Amino acid sequence: MEPEQFRKYGHEMVDWIANFMINIEKYPVSPDIKPGEIKAQLPKNAPTKGENMDDIFKDFKKIILPGITHWQHPCWFAYFPANNSPPSILGELLTAGLGAQCMIWKTSPAAEELEEVTLEWLRKMVDLPEGMIGVIQDSASTSTLVALIAAREKISGFNINCKGFTESLIVYCSEEAHSSVFKGAKIAGYGSENIRLIPADEKFAMESAKLEEAILKDRAEGKKPTLVCGTIGTTSSAGIDPLEKIGAICKKYNVWFHVDAAYAGTAAILPEKRWIMKGTEYSDSFVFNPHKWLLTNFDCS
Ligand SMILES: Cc1ncc(COP(=O)(O)O)c(C=O)c1O
Repeated sequence: MEPEQFRKYGHEMVDWIANFMINIEKYPVSPDIKPGEIKAQLPKNAPTKGENMDDIFKDFKKIILPGITHWQHPCWFAYFPANNSPPSILGELLTAGLGAQCMIWKTSPAAEELEEVTLEWLRKMVDLPEGMIGVIQDSASTSTLVALIAAREKISGFNINCKGFTESLIVYCSEEAHSSVFKGAKIAGYGSENIRLIPADEKFAMESAKLEEAILKDRAEGKKPTLVCGTIGTTSSAGIDPLEKIGAICKKYNVWFHVDAAYAGTAAILPEKRWIMKGTEYSDSFVFNPHKWLLTNFDCS
């Protein structure tokens, strides 16, 4: 595609997106289709010749659009909010336009420094402890996996990376925690038998006394309590774990304290909701998703 064609279709698509935003309420929230219906309309093999953009865009409107679930619809009440915004779409366009590779300072210095600065802004906005630094991950699930791996390496003196697991390291979260904690612990090699789901109380918050009991039992059996994941805003019940109590227990037994605030963390920007962060001063790692409540395109954790 020549730059002038890119200009033409770019303008057309931005116009289309602006109209989509204006008319979003006219779309159904969820598509009225059966599994396989979209697939059946697509060619079995990749085209051998390039198609023109008019035809591709027509296919998008005819085949793809009717199969889209509209998370930006004002009547969207499933799962959790996942709001993007016009500035975040334009930012994404610029990044794609530059074809920037933003992994480390050398691959794109401005991107790395911008990441550092904006994450420091975010740290202050949600009142996380000074000195905590951030990295953008693709999802809360990945962020929790990173915490699980970091905790595993810290407790083993970076030995698991070399030798693999030689003892039972234990992970704790409440029975209301997101499935990514359980999955992440399995991926990080802890083993499903080494994950303790601590009971939650009538407010769906972890019972900290039960956590301490479980830690003591594991220690007595010669196992190593390694990471506790507390949640601010459990996925299905909006529970808030007692982070101050959990943090104090983690400190007492030298256990990594990870806080998963995937969707609810954004609320801490509001002064009247800041209380949800109480106890994060004990945390070793913390994740929240600007791609949920902070008007940012998926994915940004
Ligand atoms: C508390 C909590 N943790 C983790 C996740 C997973 O987030 P992600 O889709 O970014 O991996 C969710 C998603 O809803 C969540 O509510």
